[in-house]
Amino acid sequence: MQKEIVVSGIRSTGNLHLGNYFGAIQNFIKMQHEYNCYFFIADYHSLTTHPVPSDLHNTVKQVLVEYLACGLDPEKSTLYVQSDLPETAELYLLLNMNAYVGELERSTTFKEKIRKQPDNINAGILTYPVLMAADILIHRAVKVPVGKDQEQHLEFSRQFGNRFNRLYNTELFPEPFAFNYGTNLVKIPGLDGSGKMGKSEGEGNAIFLSDTPEAIRKKVMRAVTDGGPTEENQKKPEVIENIFTLMKAVSSEETVKHFDELYNKMQIRYGDLKKQLAEDMISFTTPFREKITELSKDETTISKVVRLGAEKARASAAATVNEARKAIGIRSF
Ligand code: TRP
Repeated sequence: MQKEIVVSGIRSTGNLHLGNYFGAIQNFIKMQHEYNCYFFIADYHSLTTHPVPSDLHNTVKQVLVEYLACGLDPEKSTLYVQSDLPETAELYLLLNMNAYVGELERSTTFKEKIRKQPDNINAGILTYPVLMAADILIHRAVKVPVGKDQEQHLEFSRQFGNRFNRLYNTELFPEPFAFNYGTNLVKIPGLDGSGKMGKSEGEGNAIFLSDTPEAIRKKVMRAVTDGGPTEENQKKPEVIENIFTLMKAVSSEETVKHFDELYNKMQIRYGDLKKQLAEDMISFTTPFREKITELSKDETTISKVVRLGAEKARASAAATVNEARKAIGIRSF
C-alpha cells in the first residue's frame, strides 16, 4: 500500500525550545515511520520580512542542524530547503493566476500583518497563502501537521487545488488537511507563569535545546511560583501546575509523584522542586545540545543531507509541475 503523503514547512525563526520539541517535532519524528514525509525549511517565506543576507543562510543551517539533532532522519523522510526546489516557485506562479486579490486580502494573517508592519506590505505577504499551497500541492500531500493558526492557510490550499482541478478538468491535486499524529499533544507552558512556552513571550520563558546547563539553572530558578499551599490537598494554582507540567515532560514518574505528595502535605520547598526540575531538564536537553554542537561543525554531513533532500523532493515536485503545465496547455514545441 502507498503511504500517505505528509508535508510540513518549518519557519526558520530562532532556536528550538522544549515547547517546539513536545508540540511538533516529536510528532514529526513519529510520522517518519508511517508516512511519506516531506519536511522543508521555509526560507522563501521568510523573505517577506527582508532578512539580512548573511543571517538568512545561518538561520537555515541552524534550523536544519537542530531538526537533525532531534532525530529527523534524512533517509526516512525527505528533508530539504525550500529554495532548493524552484519547482515550488513555478507552481506558485501558476497558482497565482487563479488566486484573487480579494480573497487574499481577507486572510486573517494578512490583516494582522497590515496592522503590525504597515510599512512593509509587499506582494509576497499578500500571496503567502499561495506559496504555502504550492509547497503542499507540489507533493500532492493530504496531511499537513500544523498548528491551529494555520487552519485558514490550509483552507486556501484546498481552495486553490480544487479550483485548479475544476478549471483544467483534472484530478491532479488532492485536498490537504491539518493533521495531528496522536491526539494527546502536550502543551508546554512557559517559565514566567504564562500558559505557553515561546520565545516571543519574553526572556527566560523558554528553555532552548541548545541552552547550556548554567542557562537552564538560571532560568528555572527564576520561574514564577507563589507563596506555597495553604491547605492540604488543595488544587494547584496555574503557575504551580505549569511547573508540574514541565516536570512531567522531563522527569521520571517517581520524581513527579514525590513532589506532588510534598505539595499535598504542604511540605514542599519550591527551591528543591526547581533544582530538581533544572537538573532533569539538563539531562533531557544535553544529548540534543551535544548533537547540535557536533553537527554545526560538520559541513560535509549538512551538505549531503540537503543535497539528498533536494533530489528526493525534486522527483516528486517535477512530476507535479509537469502535470500542471500539461493541464494548463503549456507544451513544448
Ligand atoms: N506558514 C507555516 C507557518 O507559519 C509554514 C509553512 C510554509 C508551512 N509552507 C508550509 C506549513 C507548508 C505547512 C505546509 O508555520
